[in-house]
Amino acid sequence: MLERVSFDVPAGAMVAILGESGVGKSSLLNLVAGLDRPDAGRIAIAGQDLGTMSDDDLTRFRRKHVGFVFQAFHVLPYLTVAQNVGLPLALNGQVAPARVNAMLAAVGLADRGDSMPRELSGGELQRTAIARALVHRPALVLADEPTGNLDTASAHGVIALLRDCVRDEGATCILVTHSRAAAAIADRVLVLTADGLAESA
Ligand SMILES: Nc1ncnc2c1ncn2[C@@H]1O[C@H](COP(=O)(O)OP(=O)(O)OP(=O)(O)O)[C@@H](O)[C@H]1O
Ligand SMILES: [Mg+2]
Repeated sequence: MLERVSFDVPAGAMVAILGESGVGKSSLLNLVAGLDRPDAGRIAIAGQDLGTMSDDDLTRFRRKHVGFVFQAFHVLPYLTVAQNVGLPLALNGQVAPARVNAMLAAVGLADRGDSMPRELSGGELQRTAIARALVHRPALVLADEPTGNLDTASAHGVIALLRDCVRDEGATCILVTHSRAAAAIADRVLVLTADGLAESA
């Protein structure tokens, strides 16, 4: 149950959310993405109240404007790595192999585009999920522990990539993480507890 959670993220800003396991961080991101609907309260993105949108409208909105790095990746097992990364473009009716290849290179998977997800390590799957979340240049990037499966060097690379993409595209980013080091790149760090969401000490 998420209660007493109220926050604003200015367009183009990066906010990190810390909090203990089970406190509701993933639930919060799902609400912001419009994947879940709140029992009470209001969520607005770029002035649009998600509560007034139909499920179809929400799906369209998400496809165009949101990039989501799921905690459990949700890489589709029957598509190649490149097809997974290109999926948000395909869903928007775009074919852009050069963009897909650039994203694969950016996450260090330039030579793995033709691999199947089952042939990838956990960290490689995570990097695939990150490339997929950013490939269509979403205005809002929601990243749920995007470095949870990565070694320190890869984690550093992925966080830098997130930061650069967000900056270059003028995107807004909410980053859920257990890592204080990762959170440190954000403009603002919030901590979610059972008492609600508050500024980090
Ligand atoms: N689909 C669901 N149905 C019912 N309860 C759920 C569901 N998903 C999560 N929960 C519960 O809601 C609470 C918050 O879960 P959530 O996944 O948001 O936590 P979290 O902060 O992301 O944790 P972690 O750091 O382990 O990822 C937990 O108690 C969890 O068991
Ligand atoms: Mg979670």
